Amino acid sequence: MPDIRAILSLPSVYRAFWNLTGGRFKIFVQQHVRPRPGARVLDIGCGPGTAVPYFPNVEYVGLDASPDYIESARRRFPQATFVCSRVSHYTVPKQSYFDVVLAIGIVHHLDDVEARQLFEAAYESLKPNGKLVTLDGVLTKDQSHFARYLIGRDRGGYVRDQEGYIRIASGIFSHITPTVRQDLARFPYTHFIMECVR
Ligand SMILES: C[S@@+](CC[C@H](N)C(=O)[O-])C[C@H]1O[C@@H](n2cnc3c(N)ncnc32)[C@H](O)[C@@H]1O
Repeated sequence: MPDIRAILSLPSVYRAFWNLTGGRFKIFVQQHVRPRPGARVLDIGCGPGTAVPYFPNVEYVGLDASPDYIESARRRFPQATFVCSRVSHYTVPKQSYFDVVLAIGIVHHLDDVEARQLFEAAYESLKPNGKLVTLDGVLTKDQSHFARYLIGRDRGGYVRDQEGYIRIASGIFSHITPTVRQDLARFPYTHFIMECVR
């Protein structure tokens, strides 16, 4: 049987999987990101541009390490800007430029060193009072066995508990609002969101 985690690197397969399982992303955007019209948004680990349709009235820049995902995103969303780079090699082009930085489903792909570099890049990119919003699977004591199993099988090798994510973020940001949600997917899953204000 093919490894679903390997074929997810194909942009079309990833998009189909996301559409099937992605769940209630709109709620995440409305309740945790709340972008104002015209906002400048940097999406770190943008994949094939999954979030673009949810941010219709913003100036959007996506960054991802996968050339295939970036090529697919550029084809589908010519109105947006995409950069192919690892976050650790990314030089913030315009400091204090963005109102919002997104890190959706990426921190759990990064070891502690690169995760810290992500938070540093986000901090430098944000205007004062700008906000980084992260979303990742999380290990908790009260989650169902099924959610724990799925999260443990994730492609990212660095799924953490809440304290693990907060420990890295708090090395850079001092204002962090953490939220655990069990209701953002169409199947048992536990998400951890951090809203980090510069
Ligand atoms: C689970 S996917 C999330 C994609 C998208 N944000 C979404 O919600 O559909 C994680 C993404 O992080 C990207 N990624 C992983 N490590 C990275 C790194 N070091 N620098 C930049 N992007 C990275 C992967 O290529 C992948 O597109």
